[in-house]
Amino acid sequence: VEDAVWDAVGLGAAPRDITVRLDPFPAADQKVAARDFAETGGGPVPTALVTLARLGRRCLFGGVVGDDDAGRLIRDGLQQEGVRTDALIVRPGLTSPASVILVEPDGRRRVAECGQSALPYGEDDAALLLADIDRCRALLVDARLPVPQLAAARRAREAGALVMLDCGHPRPGVEDLLAQCDIAIVSHSYPRRLHGGSYDARDFLTGLQARLAASGRRIAGLTRGDRGCLLLTGAGALVDLPAVNVEVVDTTGAGDVFHGAFLHEILSGSDPADAARFANAAAGLSCRALTGRAPLPPIDQIRAAAR
Ligand SMILES: Nc1ncnc2c1ncn2[C@@H]1O[C@H](COP(=O)(O)OP(=O)(O)OP(=O)(O)O)[C@@H](O)[C@H]1O
Ligand SMILES: [Mg+2]
Repeated sequence: VEDAVWDAVGLGAAPRDITVRLDPFPAADQKVAARDFAETGGGPVPTALVTLARLGRRCLFGGVVGDDDAGRLIRDGLQQEGVRTDALIVRPGLTSPASVILVEPDGRRRVAECGQSALPYGEDDAALLLADIDRCRALLVDARLPVPQLAAARRAREAGALVMLDCGHPRPGVEDLLAQCDIAIVSHSYPRRLHGGSYDARDFLTGLQARLAASGRRIAGLTRGDRGCLLLTGAGALVDLPAVNVEVVDTTGAGDVFHGAFLHEILSGSDPADAARFANAAAGLSCRALTGRAPLPPIDQIRAAAR
């Protein structure tokens, strides 16, 4: 895309994250004092865009929030990070979506998603974004708005932009969406939902890669929490990276940071293996503090951790 205005345009769910760090983790019928808590914007696409913006990229987010305090927190949180929200719809009467996140002592999290299963955002709403999609280098989607995201992904392909998907587990419409994607990096809960605990990661990634756009770059990836990540690139080489060693406080949003950091590197012309090393380091470093929007160290420190 020669006259691109945006490095990345994102379309997806934009919940508010209410994050509570618990140590000890309460048993049933038990009350405990939380160690820490925070309220921030969350969501895979918004947090990936925040990561890209922190790395200097021009980003625009489209989605829907309610006309309530949470909606303002979500919007302001993006704006403060330099992500433009011109295409964010504020829907009167809608209760903004939320995720209630309980963080365990080892940093793993349990999430209750509230109001995210049928977001009131349709193809008409996505029409607002089309002119921007025509002038972006990459489109990020999360399979939570399958109909408008499919239209957006087709448009992005026509415009010559990269299309990248983040998906936590299989969702309706994801197959059609995959067929318009160049890059799909999913979380380990995705194959687990499909195949249970025992699956061959390479086979899974080979299948995922085959579903991507035939004309695309066809990068299929799997993030595996504290086991790092696996990536199958166009050439068929498997990249297997262990997680970086960090003192983990909260892994929330690590996958989102991974996506933002990976796309940053791809847009800079890095090869997928190097991009994965950088993303793996950035994602790990994001686990050292609470929330998916935990601060990232300067880029040289991310690069040093990636080596
Ligand atoms: N405990 C950890 N230590 C180091 N790195 C981690 C850890 N957990 C996650 N990461 C890094 O973050 C990446 C993404 O993590 P994960 O697979 O848990 O994402 P996710 O399930 O999509 O999470 P979310 O949706 O909350 O962002 C991993 O591939 C790894 O690079
Ligand atoms: Mg994720």
